[in-house]
Amino acid sequence: MPDLALPDTSVPDPAGLLLVTGGAGFIGSAIVREALGLGWRVRVLDSLRADVHAVRPSDETTPVIDGVSLDDSRVEFQLGDVTDPEAVAAALDGVSVVCHQAAKVGLGVDFLDAPDYVASNELGTAVLLAGMTRAGIGRLVMASSMVVYGEGSYRRASGADGQAGGQTSEEVDPGAGPETDVHAGAAIRPPARLQSDLEAGRFDPLDPMTGLPLIPALISEDDPLDPRNVYASSKLSQEYLAASWARSTGGRAIALRYHNVYGPGMPQNTPYAGVASLFRSAIERGEAPRVFEDGRQRRDFVHVADVARANLRAVESTAVDSTAADSTAVDSTAVDSTAAGVGSSFRAFNVGSGTVHTIGDLAEALSRWSGGLEPVVTGEFRLGDVRHITASSERLRAELGWQPSVSFDEGVREFASAPLRAAVQSS
Ligand SMILES: NC(=O)c1ccc[n+]([C@@H]2O[C@H](COP(=O)([O-])OP(=O)(O)OC[C@H]3O[C@@H](n4cnc5c(N)ncnc54)[C@H](O)[C@@H]3O)[C@@H](O)[C@H]2O)c1
Repeated sequence: MPDLALPDTSVPDPAGLLLVTGGAGFIGSAIVREALGLGWRVRVLDSLRADVHAVRPSDETTPVIDGVSLDDSRVEFQLGDVTDPEAVAAALDGVSVVCHQAAKVGLGVDFLDAPDYVASNELGTAVLLAGMTRAGIGRLVMASSMVVYGEGSYRRASGADGQAGGQTSEEVDPGAGPETDVHAGAAIRPPARLQSDLEAGRFDPLDPMTGLPLIPALISEDDPLDPRNVYASSKLSQEYLAASWARSTGGRAIALRYHNVYGPGMPQNTPYAGVASLFRSAIERGEAPRVFEDGRQRRDFVHVADVARANLRAVESTAVDSTAADSTAVDSTAVDSTAAGVGSSFRAFNVGSGTVHTIGDLAEALSRWSGGLEPVVTGEFRLGDVRHITASSERLRAELGWQPSVSFDEGVREFASAPLRAAVQSS
C-alpha cells in the first residue's frame, strides 16, 4: 500500500497548499475565495472548457476569469485537463489536500454527450486519484450531486391526515386515503413517472398500491442510490472511484452531494445552467420565467457561499482520523460500508440548506426582487426530471459542524441582481 500523507492531528493546515480542480468554475471559484480567506495557498487546475467559459485569459499566467481574479500571489493557476496525467502530476506537486470540482455538469443535450461526461468525470477522477497515489497525497474532497439519488424520498400517504412527517416544508401535498391503511408512512421508492401521467398533468409520483400521491420526505445519505442519466451515473462513478482509492491506499475521501446550488457567478442560459439562472436570464431578456409542470416541484436551494464553506469544513476534517475517533463516521451507504486500513475512510454528505422551497417559489421571488414579469406556469415537462428532491443535511451539521448562513430570502434577493457568468456562444 502506498504511504500516503495523512496527518494524525485535528489541526487543519492553513499554511498548506490546496489544489482546487475546476477552480475557475461557478462553485470552484467560491471555494478558492473561501480557502484564501482561511489562509490557504491555492493552486487551480482548470481546462477552461470552451462550452463553459466565454472569457478566456489572454495571458495564461495572469488570468481573470469570470469576475474572479486569480492574479493573486496566493493563487497559482494551471491551465490543464484532469484527464492528462502530466498536467495532474504537475498540479499535485507540493499539495497537501485536493478539492476536486472539475466536471462536465448538467443534464447535457442528448446521449451524444455521454463520452464527454465519462471522460471528464470518470476518467478525470481516475487520473487524479492515480496521480495522488503516486504523489503520496491522502486527502480528498470531491463534488458529488443529489442526482445520485434519482427521485427524492417518499412516504405512503397516511389516509386522512396526509401529513409529511418530520419535514420543514411550507407545503404539504394532499393525500386522501383510507384511514385504516396499515402501510401509511412507510418509505417507498416510486418508479419513473410515465409520459401519459405527465401529459395528463399528474405530476406527483403515485402510490402503486393505492393510486394516491406519495408524500415527499427529506432524503438522507443512507437512501438508495439510483442515478437516472449519464451525468448522474458519472457522479456516482466518481464516488465509487474515491471509495476504492480510499480503500486501497488508506486515504481519506469525502464526497459532498450538492443540492440546487445558486448564487453569483452562475452560468447563463446554457443547456447546463441550473433553473435559477434560466429564470434570471429570462427576466433579464424582459421575458417571464417559464415554470414547468405546476411549479410545485420541491427543491433545496443552497447558496454557493455555503457550499464553499462546506468544502473547507470537509477539507479540514480530512486531517482528522475519523475512524479512530468515532466508528459511526464510517460510511454506511451503498458506496462504501467499511473503512479499509488504519485511518482510511470514505464518507458522503448532503449539502442543502435544510429548507424546502418549490421551483415556483424561486421564480416568484426572483421576479419580485428583480422587478421582472410574473412567472408563467406552463405545464410543460421533461421526462427525465425528478418531481421532488430535498435534502437532510443533518450528517453534515452533526459531523462537520457546518450550517448554512444564507437564507433563501437573503440569497435570492442578492441573486436577483448578482452578475452571472458570461454566456458562451453556441458554435
Ligand atoms: N452547480 C450545481 O448546482 C451543482 C450541483 C451538484 C453538483 N455540482 C458539481 O459541482 C462541481 C462544480 O460545478 P459548477 O456548477 O461549478 O460547474 P462549472 O462548469 O461552473 O465549473 C466546472 C469547472 O471545471 C472545469 N473543468 C471541466 N472539465 C474539466 C477537466 N476535464 N479538466 C479540468 N477542468 C475541467 C471547467 O472549465 C469549469 O471551470 C462539479 O463537479 C459538478 O458536478 C454542481
